[in-house]
Amino acid sequence: MVDAPRVPGNSWWQSAVFYQIYPWSFKDSNGDGIGDLQGIQSRLNYLRDGTPASLGVDAVWLSPIYPSPMKDFGYDVSDYCSVDPRFGTLSDFDSLLREAHRRGLRVIMDLVLNHTSDQHPWFIDSRSSRNSPKADWYCWADGRSLFRRPSNWNARFGGSSWTWEPTRRQYYLHSFLKKQPDLNWQHPPVREAMWDVARFWLDRGVDGFRLDAINWLGKDLRWPDNPFRFGWRGYTRQEHRYDRDQPVTHEIMKELRQLLSAYPHAVLIGEAAADTPGGPAAFYGQGDDELHLVFDFRLLKSPWRADRFRQFLTDHVSAIPKGGWATIVFSNHDQPRHIDRYGQDGDADARARAAALLLFTLPGTPFLYYGEELGMRNAKLRYRELRDPYTKRFWPFRPGRDPARTPMQWDASYQAGFTTGRPWLPIAAQSAELNVADEATDPRSLLSLYKRLIEQRRASHALTVGGCSLVQAEASDCLLYERMAQLEDGTTERMLTMVNFSERQVDVTVPQSVLHGRVLLSTNPASVDAGRISRCMKLAPNEGRLIQILN
Ligand code: GLC
Ligand code: CA
Repeated sequence: MVDAPRVPGNSWWQSAVFYQIYPWSFKDSNGDGIGDLQGIQSRLNYLRDGTPASLGVDAVWLSPIYPSPMKDFGYDVSDYCSVDPRFGTLSDFDSLLREAHRRGLRVIMDLVLNHTSDQHPWFIDSRSSRNSPKADWYCWADGRSLFRRPSNWNARFGGSSWTWEPTRRQYYLHSFLKKQPDLNWQHPPVREAMWDVARFWLDRGVDGFRLDAINWLGKDLRWPDNPFRFGWRGYTRQEHRYDRDQPVTHEIMKELRQLLSAYPHAVLIGEAAADTPGGPAAFYGQGDDELHLVFDFRLLKSPWRADRFRQFLTDHVSAIPKGGWATIVFSNHDQPRHIDRYGQDGDADARARAAALLLFTLPGTPFLYYGEELGMRNAKLRYRELRDPYTKRFWPFRPGRDPARTPMQWDASYQAGFTTGRPWLPIAAQSAELNVADEATDPRSLLSLYKRLIEQRRASHALTVGGCSLVQAEASDCLLYERMAQLEDGTTERMLTMVNFSERQVDVTVPQSVLHGRVLLSTNPASVDAGRISRCMKLAPNEGRLIQILN
């Protein structure tokens, strides 16, 4: 029995569906080839307009929109309280927020806590002298000896994490790019400054934050060497015992959570690595004193296998303390799109359709990554088309991140309706078939399936805030689970999901207790949707079905 943690008096973010917008790629309003805030505003009705014609999501997560040299496409911030001119102005932001809220759509920002850009005034001051006002705001250290770095630590994006600064005659730490110096979170003024940033946006009306790379906040400031371990490259060839995940990180999360007592509507969502001590669940703290939601990379990287999803339910969801809440997320701007990840040795389309059923019926808050609802694929890019330094560095040995960041496909026209100019990354090849305009009018499209599932979910207590239990099935390639919730009138609402992860048709013997029910939908367009259920149900390869159990 796996019970989704229940919280008395549910919060909006527990039943909400989130949609991640990568601002560079959603919609360009002025023809410079880069998405922007006015572009996003012009497409809000696509996300939610109160009618079944729209996708019907409840909240938008904006990847960073702050002024930035864009070495890491916004994750290198040079001013936390403004908007990058490529994307627009603060007043464009206010207008976007107002228009989103008018539609009942919440907006959360991406808060990059671990590092700033090397062009941020804090760092410019800090690097200027050992006696400058912000001298201790970043992680500075002396070399071990002439030409020897302070420690063996490696950066996530390659190379050493230390760079020599001739002016100070010291090294600074950067866990990602050299142009992203790490802040010193053990220095109280840094916390104060960052909490002011959080208040700045909350006072403007935002509904919470996605917290970037929280594993890295706490490090051992005595700079001990990390132990060696076997891995494919520098970063994975060491155990990250000292450069990440120090207990102080939890203290920092607690401070941020306390700040929210003045903003009780706001949600905190953390990005936490899978190998963090205690697993991502550790960032829920006691359940009510750290983060509300934590992304689980084990799901973000999982192949298409029933046992992996079963394990997610038995091990990961059940590790979340009471008061915490799971997230269901298959794709984001750092990973290859899941349609390709799942589809490598099977029918990608059928799997993406079955995955959609999982996304909206597993216990937790679903997060969509723009374009996944269309079945957008990883683009095949040439080296000279790449923009992301991480993608370039490991090309062609790693798929990298640019292939999953190509522009949103709005229609079959030139540049997929994204821009009238030249897009910053090429449009993926399949935009003539996979686009909003065409899929919106096709009831069998993936987009139509996403809409139906979101509607179905919205109408169901069981699917949003209900408990969850695995249902035994003889076929190990099939995953069956039941969501259930007590309704106010005393009855119980029960929903059964069944997904066949295999490439063959499977006979699923339905438990006796489920015999009364009706099939609400199948992810297989060829299957008959409505109908009674029988003792033995035949699931097509990669088919998923949602069944309402009638007691
Ligand atoms: C997070 C972001 C990623 C970024 C990194 C450094 O993992 O999701 O895009 O490059 O942090 O900020
Ligand atoms: Ca633009």
